[in-house]
Amino acid sequence: MVLTSTDSRIQIDEQASAFRPIYYLGCKTSFTSAIKTAIDEVDPSGGRLVDLFSGTGSVGAALGAFREVTTVDVQEYSRVLCSAVLSPPVLSQAEIANIVERALQDESAKQALWCLQPLIEYERECIKTAAIGDFNSLVELIESPPLAVRAITEFETPSTRLDDASCEVSRRFHEAGLWQAAETTVSRYFGGLYFSYAQAAMLDAVLTVADFSGEQSRNTLKAAALSAASQLVNTVGKQFAQPIRPRDKSGAVKSSLVRIVQRDRSLDTLELYQTWLGRYATLPRAIGRPQALRQDYLDAIAQNASSFSVIYADPPYTRDHYSRFYHVLETMCLRDNPAISQVMKNGNLTPSRGAYREDRHQSDFCIRSTAPTAFEALFRVARGHDLPLVLSYSPHEADDGTHPRVVSMSQIIELANQHYNRVEICAVDGVKHNQLNRSGLRLKMRDQAEIILKCYR
Ligand SMILES: C[S@@+](CC[C@H](N)C(=O)[O-])C[C@H]1O[C@@H](n2cnc3c(N)ncnc32)[C@H](O)[C@@H]1O
Repeated sequence: MVLTSTDSRIQIDEQASAFRPIYYLGCKTSFTSAIKTAIDEVDPSGGRLVDLFSGTGSVGAALGAFREVTTVDVQEYSRVLCSAVLSPPVLSQAEIANIVERALQDESAKQALWCLQPLIEYERECIKTAAIGDFNSLVELIESPPLAVRAITEFETPSTRLDDASCEVSRRFHEAGLWQAAETTVSRYFGGLYFSYAQAAMLDAVLTVADFSGEQSRNTLKAAALSAASQLVNTVGKQFAQPIRPRDKSGAVKSSLVRIVQRDRSLDTLELYQTWLGRYATLPRAIGRPQALRQDYLDAIAQNASSFSVIYADPPYTRDHYSRFYHVLETMCLRDNPAISQVMKNGNLTPSRGAYREDRHQSDFCIRSTAPTAFEALFRVARGHDLPLVLSYSPHEADDGTHPRVVSMSQIIELANQHYNRVEICAVDGVKHNQLNRSGLRLKMRDQAEIILKCYR
């Protein structure tokens, strides 16, 4: 077996204006032209591309102008985003305004909003008092578990004003039959924690309208809600791995708290939602019959290989499970009543502060012991179906504070060479990339090379 390392370093332009549906770690928007070149080289036929591990669908969408595309990801929020970017419906400005109006007029949304009023009003009061220097009530509100995570018994003996408001909201939800309802999922699980209660109620309202919309527009209506949520979320770095921490390590309230809370929690959900709907409506439609699947990567190849002509694969490379960073988006799409994972705190099992889904997906690619097997299976199954493959790899630079890769580049090359006779590598560099700094879960910008592995048939 021969490894032909072409070592071709391609300088690329950052596509500043490219469509980014959500803030997403490892999004390939800046690399799509280099990826397209690689895909065309390994498969000049122009046949159907499968964008495995599609995430936000950046590669599928960019290539969708040239080839038929199938996107595959194990997460439902990814399927929703990919459907929306591949097959946007035609929506006029009047239709968009009408969708937003429906969210305001929907009966269950109005009822849910009324149920939430005590918490909405109390939260506004907390932000006002914090602005004049009294942080206690705002800190208590942010540090408290959301409604769905609190034990029902906690509401029986309310001891603070927050308890009083929560207790009244819970009573109203029960009376209205909305306590376990899909129509209040975001409010119950994420209100107060990631969004203001008012924002959460409006996200619920637009998702309700989406659920009752025709199949063609449903994904776009949901995707616009995800995009708005990604912009609204009150966290550092605009992901959902960790709710905002109002105190520093010494227990003192952070000086930036009020500014960040005021900035994020005053954003108007419906205004953002309307803007996002407009953006989705202007996207070009992918050619032919685009498909967005929610499936495990191996199942997707096994079941659809005969329709694929080439594979592009962008699996996760670090221990950070995507499901942890984007669990809120998953719950927004599924609108189920997920059990919340528990953590050990002071010797007791308590619900995770981030309100993570207990069933969130744990990818084999993110676990050191299983990742090599997962990669080996990818190469073996792809080669078994006689499919050329392009793989993205973002290398880790030693000691730069970012999270190390669970498999090394040389391991990947070795595995690729076990199954493909001709493997070429090219590096794309000069790109500023958002990186997660582990210690503080902060995003920082750094120059990053991107490696593209080309496996020829
Ligand atoms: C690096 S991200 C992909 C980013 C994407 N290329 C983009 O530009 O947005 C990796 C993706 O792999 C998905 N994933 C992880 N394990 C998977 C599996 N076993 N099958 C399918 N998708 C998986 C994650 O949900 C995540 O969206």
